[in-house]
Amino acid sequence: MRKNHCRSKIMNTMQLEKIETASIDELRSLQLERLKKTLHHAYQNSPVYRKKFDEHGVHPDDLKSLEDLQKFPFTTKQDLRDNYPFGLFSVPQEKIVRVHASSGTTGQPTVVGYTQNDINIWADVVARSLRAAGLTAQDTVQVSYGYGLFTGGLGAHYGVERLGATVIPMSGGQTEKQAQLICDFKPTALMVTPSYCLNIIECLEKKLGTARNTSVKTGIFGAEPWTIEMRQEIEQRLGIDALDIYGLSEVMGPGVAMECLESKDGPTIWEDHFYPEIINPDTGEVVTDGELGELVFTTITKEGMPVIRYRTRDLTRLLPGTVRTMRRMDKIVGRSDDMMIIRGVNVFPSQIEEQILRIPELIPNYQIHICKQGHLDTLHIRTEMRKDTPLNISYQLANQLKAQIKTIVGISVSVEVLNEGSLPRSEGKAQRVFDIRKSA
Ligand code: DLL
Repeated sequence: MRKNHCRSKIMNTMQLEKIETASIDELRSLQLERLKKTLHHAYQNSPVYRKKFDEHGVHPDDLKSLEDLQKFPFTTKQDLRDNYPFGLFSVPQEKIVRVHASSGTTGQPTVVGYTQNDINIWADVVARSLRAAGLTAQDTVQVSYGYGLFTGGLGAHYGVERLGATVIPMSGGQTEKQAQLICDFKPTALMVTPSYCLNIIECLEKKLGTARNTSVKTGIFGAEPWTIEMRQEIEQRLGIDALDIYGLSEVMGPGVAMECLESKDGPTIWEDHFYPEIINPDTGEVVTDGELGELVFTTITKEGMPVIRYRTRDLTRLLPGTVRTMRRMDKIVGRSDDMMIIRGVNVFPSQIEEQILRIPELIPNYQIHICKQGHLDTLHIRTEMRKDTPLNISYQLANQLKAQIKTIVGISVSVEVLNEGSLPRSEGKAQRVFDIRKSA
């Protein structure tokens, strides 16, 4: 998929940090040492964690092995909200050099704080992520994640600088300008949400006829779920390698895990800084690697705001390492709070996206409306067809999508296929699901 260029596709292992290819034993022993330190740090310096541990009847000294972490209580988004804004910080305020916050759709924003050391580690893991994507100091990276309280822009920015590459701090929005800068500044890589990347591709296609011949060779996409089918669509239309970067503000920001160019088999978790577990979301029990469940993270080097067993609500599986010692995570199926239950069937937006992308005439720009028919919840899907598609087949395409969703996902939906450009475009994280039950 990658255009011709001088960079070698296969990473030179000399460029990797030692820990990336250390033995499992070395990695586990480093994790244990760091985890002990983190638990003590949280217990001694955060009244919130001290209270939580005491109420749960555990003490940091109870951790003798990595498995003992299961004895400790979870941290949830509600804990951050209850202690808004700075109650979970575990160092004196003068040690905090930066805060970020995520707005969320409901309730209070959640705030996170970093020491200078945290910021350095964050830049290191993002730089490591970029190297995993095959980037070097020779690259120019257009960062189109939003700058500001969101961790995407600044997190990516400092990682690019740490790598020694050139950063174009474009931020999100101003799509025309995004396309113009790609033509003028000739970035070799783009960091952006996959949904906004589609928007930029459309703009480039309008401008240039095709988006396949720009200078961009690599896309580093994350901050929202996206399917393998979406990867193929973006790679095809932009003529690039599209790789998955994962992260969340409560744990750090972008760069908690990154997919490697040479394997493209799901993000490798940088386990020397972030210790993962998968739990059954209903019981809280840890499940074995390979089983689907909710991803939980414990930071093991963070000072400003360590999190112990933070429940991400992201549903995925842990997979063995392939090109690194560290474990990988499977593509996120969805967030537990994005799951729709339609007449008893659990449905994630990603399953709908998958089916849309199986029909070549359709564009993966879509909305899912949850409606009410009598007492039953129903889904109405709105999507678009490519501009060169004959108008008279929109009805046929709608029926085809309906039939596929019925057969593969197992629910009956109604579908509307619109002309290209009818639906609003995302400039960051796309909003896919609209619950119109209350307003109906
Ligand atoms: O979205 C951090 C980030 C910025 C990651 C840029 C990657 C790139 P939050 O705003 O706190 O932080 O949102 C975190 O976004 O729990 C997931 O639900 C979702 N998410 C992030 N990366 C991915 C991904 C940033 N690669 C929440 N695939 C997480 C699927 C993702 N979902």
